[in-house]
Amino acid sequence: MAALFNTRITDLYGIRLPVIASGLMWLANADYIGAAVNAGLMGFMTAASCPSPDALRDEIRRCRQITGGKPFGVNIGIRKGEKEDQRITRIIDVIVEEGVRFVETYGYSPEAYIPRLHDAGIKVLHKVPSVRFALKAQSIGVDAITVVGAEAGGHPGTDLVGTFVQSVVAARKLHVPLVVAGGVGTGAHIVSALALGADAVAIGTRFLVAEEIWAHHKYKERLVAADETHTALILQTLRKTQRAFANEKAKLVAELESANGGDIDVLLPHIAGALGRKAYQSGDYEQAILSLGQSVAFADRIEPIAAIVARLEAEARAALSRLEGLQPRPDISAMPTMLA
Ligand SMILES: Cc1cc2nc3c(=O)[nH]c(=O)nc-3n(C[C@H](O)[C@H](O)[C@H](O)COP(=O)(O)O)c2cc1C
Repeated sequence: MAALFNTRITDLYGIRLPVIASGLMWLANADYIGAAVNAGLMGFMTAASCPSPDALRDEIRRCRQITGGKPFGVNIGIRKGEKEDQRITRIIDVIVEEGVRFVETYGYSPEAYIPRLHDAGIKVLHKVPSVRFALKAQSIGVDAITVVGAEAGGHPGTDLVGTFVQSVVAARKLHVPLVVAGGVGTGAHIVSALALGADAVAIGTRFLVAEEIWAHHKYKERLVAADETHTALILQTLRKTQRAFANEKAKLVAELESANGGDIDVLLPHIAGALGRKAYQSGDYEQAILSLGQSVAFADRIEPIAAIVARLEAEARAALSRLEGLQPRPDISAMPTMLA
């Protein structure tokens, strides 16, 4: 089928649709990202989910086999400190050695790593939760920017501006290609994001029910049953705001935060990432903090990502036809009559 849209992001990645499968801790592995790429998207596998640089290398090679050589990217969390710098440097070593051409960064500024990435011909998409960080990222030379709104699963930042407002503010202020994320769950969202000035959307939550996501079937069934009210914002006391599934663990963390404030020692046993991986494995979805955005409202069926993407595409076409149908018709009564 002919491509629906041509944007700076479809050109940058050589993809059919202006949609990015963004990094998902524990979940964005070769199976998921490979399937997303084969469905016509750009996808970023999460380096932090791999226990070692060699494990990342294996995952990259597996993904390349799945995509038959089509490009994909790696998601890197940027943190501060000497140990983190060594970890990130080793990840970049693997990415460069394996010939990966695209990287998605998030967290702190990727400035220190940009020269090495660019020297290796790697394009950097940096993800931020606020336009003020986007401006900073633009000034240090990233190739494209994702701006995430308050609806998003994961870390929507501390300003919590909704995607509808933030997208337009970002489009007005940035000149690099712009990806918007947070609450994107239908094809109509894609059309509206492009209308607001974006070059693409990034999706996390809507794809969690893809068959290629390895999380337990029980959790995916719970997501299908959930609606837009089933998320909670936690960890605002630590200024590490997270939007997560509104389960028993999120309720407990919120109670601990209001009783103790942002006491990391009290909170850490409940928010440790390893709990999340265990919950995805066992399907016991009440016992961990599991990132989830409001667009879970649109996760209505467990199916291959290609089927989700096909539906997004059909919805985007339907949204465009709806807009066309809303064009005012010429007023026939006001036209001069051709009858003699
Ligand atoms: C389960 C889950 C895990 C996530 N893990 C990461 C991650 O490891 N790295 C990252 O950059 N973003 C992560 N995010 C954020 C997503 O990449 C993306 O920015 C966000 O999901 C977009 O908003 P949406 O959830 O409304 O689609 C995660 C989101 C979810 C839902």
